[in-house]
Amino acid sequence: MPKKTLTERCQPFTRYIEGIKAQGFYPYFRPISRSWGTEVEVAGKRLIMIGSNDYLGLSHDPRVLEAASQALRRWGSGPGGSRFLSGNLSLHEELEERLAAFVGKKRAVLHVTGFSTNLGAIACLLTAQDTILCDRENHASILEGCQASKARLIPFAHNDPKAAAEKLHQAREKYPNGIMLLITEGVFSMSGDLSLLPGLVALKRTFPDLLVYLDDAHGIGVMGYQGRGTATHFGLTDQVDFIMGTFSKALASIGGFIASDDIDVLEYLRHHSKPLIFSAGLPASCTATVMTCLDIIEHEPERVNRLWEITRKVHAGYQEIGLRTGEPVSPVLPIHIGSEIKAGLFAADLFKNGVFALPAVFPAVPRNKAVIRTAYMSTHQESQIDYVLEVMSKLATKHGVLASDLEERGYFANASGFSSPGPGVSDQAISQIGK
Ligand SMILES: Cc1ncc(COP(=O)(O)O)c(C=O)c1O
Repeated sequence: MPKKTLTERCQPFTRYIEGIKAQGFYPYFRPISRSWGTEVEVAGKRLIMIGSNDYLGLSHDPRVLEAASQALRRWGSGPGGSRFLSGNLSLHEELEERLAAFVGKKRAVLHVTGFSTNLGAIACLLTAQDTILCDRENHASILEGCQASKARLIPFAHNDPKAAAEKLHQAREKYPNGIMLLITEGVFSMSGDLSLLPGLVALKRTFPDLLVYLDDAHGIGVMGYQGRGTATHFGLTDQVDFIMGTFSKALASIGGFIASDDIDVLEYLRHHSKPLIFSAGLPASCTATVMTCLDIIEHEPERVNRLWEITRKVHAGYQEIGLRTGEPVSPVLPIHIGSEIKAGLFAADLFKNGVFALPAVFPAVPRNKAVIRTAYMSTHQESQIDYVLEVMSKLATKHGVLASDLEERGYFANASGFSSPGPGVSDQAISQIGK
């Protein structure tokens, strides 16, 4: 094969994207010029936002904005360095204590994003002697952490404790030594599925040394008593060894954390997680935002209740239209479309009709299992939801994406929604099994 320059290597992809743009349905990187929370402005057009993870609508709460601006004035706009060196704010440590208590663990460690929390934590805690059991739909940041750790990666069928048990038995027999870590999401980011956590932690009865790592990016602030997350929802906090969360969803900011009762492990992590040591700390404004969001979530349970009301209403609306969607077990309600091009065209038509939602395509979901990922906020008004449902109904028929249309095209042949290989754990990762 003739040697290619870097430009030549990238060009086929770039041309492909240009082709989609020329056809007018490239939906990504849309510049939002203004946001009111449930509505945004793009290219001078006001749209109802149904694709945000700001589940509780806190990013525009006046108390949050005030706390962020006070912190900005007190600590400045950036921390000026890594937390390890000159950028460790007292507010970071306060938030760590607060988060640990919130999720029911002894200690928590902050990172600058959720992605870098998974990447840094998994990579620094596991080694080539260890084995990771990973749900096939786990997020890309988890996979990056697994790959960076060099541990053996064993994917198991999505949300299937029985499949996990089989893989675990095989792995323990083959690799009797080394740490065994099972990683699952609490609420899966694309399908909105709720983890079958009880079945997964039950594996600890057979394998007492099994460690369980829960990425609760989409569960924190939403699931369980006072939004304390999926482990609280199931009453299994003490069975989960690591709870990871992000601030980029219900906590209306950016940043991430990992919490555990194992103080030694977290102290080690604080000194070895590369994104923590070699990235600057979280800006004070983001940190104060999260503190205030926690106050609000703890004191205003009606926000979470309203989110569930809206989620159930939308789910019922989708069903009435005849769309194929997930169960209302989380605020993430994907609309199954299948064809990636159809999903792009559908999203473009939503846009024309004043609705902002985006297609999720491979590798975020398996090939030809494209969805329009919708997620609503507790601040959406009834009139906004009614309007969106009206638009969905009109467009679903126009584009032929009703559940009955999908059935005709054989969409459900091998899956109840998403099928393997899962979005996060790709073929490439699977090929590493047993390395
Ligand atoms: C399950 C899951 N984990 C981790 C992340 C990364 O979070 P962040 O946006 O804070 O980097 C995301 C973000 O989409 C996610 O969905």
